[in-house]
Amino acid sequence: MREVRTVLSVVGARPNFMKTAPVIAALRQRSNRFEHVLVHTGQHYDAAMSDVFLEELGVGAPDRLLNVGSGTHAVQTARVMERIEPVLQEVGPDLVLVPGDVNSTVAAALVAAKLDIPVGHIEAGLRSFDRTMPEELNRLVTDQLSALLFTHSPEAQANLVREGIAMERIHAVGNTMVDTLEAMRERINAVDASNGHGLEAGSYVIVTLHRPALVDGPLLATAVDALRKLASRTNVVFPIHPRTASAIRRLDLRIDAPGMRILEPLGYLEFLSLLTHAAAAVTDSGGIQEETTYLGIPCFTLRDNTERPITCELGTNVLLGLRPDRLVDVPDMIGDVRSRAARNLPGWDGYAAHRIVDVIESGVPDWREPPHDGRLRWTRSTTGRQRVDTVSDRVR
Ligand code: UD1
Repeated sequence: MREVRTVLSVVGARPNFMKTAPVIAALRQRSNRFEHVLVHTGQHYDAAMSDVFLEELGVGAPDRLLNVGSGTHAVQTARVMERIEPVLQEVGPDLVLVPGDVNSTVAAALVAAKLDIPVGHIEAGLRSFDRTMPEELNRLVTDQLSALLFTHSPEAQANLVREGIAMERIHAVGNTMVDTLEAMRERINAVDASNGHGLEAGSYVIVTLHRPALVDGPLLATAVDALRKLASRTNVVFPIHPRTASAIRRLDLRIDAPGMRILEPLGYLEFLSLLTHAAAAVTDSGGIQEETTYLGIPCFTLRDNTERPITCELGTNVLLGLRPDRLVDVPDMIGDVRSRAARNLPGWDGYAAHRIVDVIESGVPDWREPPHDGRLRWTRSTTGRQRVDTVSDRVR
């Protein structure tokens, strides 16, 4: 009889949920092979930033909640590490799955690796080549620590190879965020959110801003001013991330304008419904650059670089630079972007999660010493498991 393997997934922040949900669903479908444990670090804790996603995506309540909350990078990362270590020791999973690039991702990967538990990284290999971004540091470290690196685009694979990661560990599986979008498409269509907000399809620009480079410094005032000017040309729908909302309050910036709809953070279905019918998106998010590429919606990204260059190569995504003053010209640029047809990418097809679970089922390479014979094997057995408890044990 084949052994049942325990896979423990760690989620923490909003973008993690849609990347992990389809993998959890695929693991649950193979319950004769896998037991699944979901740990939520609590990095995002507002209902609108967390619970609504787990409910809508059918993931359900996490098995463990670590309640780490907000803090500086060091505090938040350290809290996740402290609180997840005893959970991993108690559950003893055969594999820890981490998605994306948030602080919870790197913290969980580091603790698992030190406990000699193999890590699988969903959305591995993305690089902005900008080490001032906290997410870039999180990606670099997580990828180095991972036994299985699941990539969604050729660039991601090339980045990992360039960093010396053995090919055996890299698996081009596709985009699990597209799996979620496909799985939820009917429900997204049923929401008809633009109608609910009294907006005609194609008559508005949807905006999301939350990155520190934009919202934690003087650029925020320029961005808010430019958004108000943009709202005098077209409707602007702006669901505000808590970080951005508190910065706007702190600086006492005036955001209201005739064409401006300020909303609380939205759930997945409502946001995707609004995105699907938008004339364009303005964002500094990574995930939205991909979702707009898949949907063929023009996207204007307020960043100097992107870890997702494929979205620009395909023509749906335009990097505006860290230049919020350029927002007012967005209506003039939409037509040009729309005329460049979006194409689908290999593996952006709704089946990436199943490919991930196929890989996991076939085994995990010994991550401590990347195998050069190309063989995949489970390094640990669920019975008679040996754990290296200290660094000196390992060195001996
Ligand atoms: C985090 C991720 C970022 C991701 C983003 C998606 C890191 C380094 N950053 O950024 O990559 O794109 O999530 O949203 O992990 N807050 C609330 N309620 C919440 C969560 C946050 O009010 O539920 C507020 C708090 O004031 C907090 C601030 O937002 O201090 C920032 O939250 P944090 O998780 O530290 O980073 P994000 O900016 O959300």
